[in-house]
Amino acid sequence: MVIIMSREYDLKPAPSSENSSAKSVGDSLINRRQFISYGFNTATGVLAASLGVLGFAALILPPGGGGGGDLAAKYWAKGREDEAWYGPMHEQPMKKSDFVAEAAKSSTGTSGASGVWNGVPIVVTYVDHAKNAGSPVTNGKARFQFMEGYDGTGKYVGHFDDLADADSRLFPSENLVMIFGRCTHLCCIPGWQLVSNSFTEDSWTPGGGDDGGTKLFCICHSSRFDPTALEMNANTNRSNGSNFKYAGIRRSGGPAPVGLPIIPVVVNSDIIEGLPDYVDWYTYCD
Ligand code: FES
Repeated sequence: MVIIMSREYDLKPAPSSENSSAKSVGDSLINRRQFISYGFNTATGVLAASLGVLGFAALILPPGGGGGGDLAAKYWAKGREDEAWYGPMHEQPMKKSDFVAEAAKSSTGTSGASGVWNGVPIVVTYVDHAKNAGSPVTNGKARFQFMEGYDGTGKYVGHFDDLADADSRLFPSENLVMIFGRCTHLCCIPGWQLVSNSFTEDSWTPGGGDDGGTKLFCICHSSRFDPTALEMNANTNRSNGSNFKYAGIRRSGGPAPVGLPIIPVVVNSDIIEGLPDYVDWYTYCD
């Protein structure tokens, strides 16, 4: 247990502060209060209609963002404009070519960015699956893994392919996976390299476990999610208590009970667009 906790908080040392409560984000600091503020700024800024009215009207169009309609995902780097690689593109439509260029700098062939889509927070991850899938899994090159899934009690739910065979749009389109960005623990907003630690470093280990980096990390209580491990999972609609199964990315560690649901995407003239066919999957938070 001690080992686990020490790893969970194995954060990059702050370069200019002795504040032990601060977490390092690149070369700057963000403490827990600021992070929560960031999360709720995101929420109040773009979740104006919250989950009860997931609709196109909730979308905030980027000022001068150019291109991309209501289905386009937009970068969201508020407060991190100087740290995140997509900071200069804050509120502009996400482009596949941006992710490809960023992934080329990665030893694992991955890149990711936080964003907003259809009024909700998202994280988009690019994995150079087409190139890496033919190489040995032990070489640290990330690729998608299609896996069996279990609910929060450990009960077998089904295989990712069971859902994706019925709707092929759930398979990663153009090496991209977009997920609904609310943690299944207490609904904070996980991020891609939002903090620097062993879970978010540029390394990859197969199996959907907690080894290696390349995880989406929730700073609130350190839950981790593997965007390369795709599974079937189950959760509960918080409003009416109904259960639903979904295609998602695997929870690899931390207090979150299950993984994060996928939002299927298409790429339209380089713009990444989400498909609003599975909004029931995003109902586990208020
Ligand atoms: S809300 Fe994400 S770990 Fe608690």
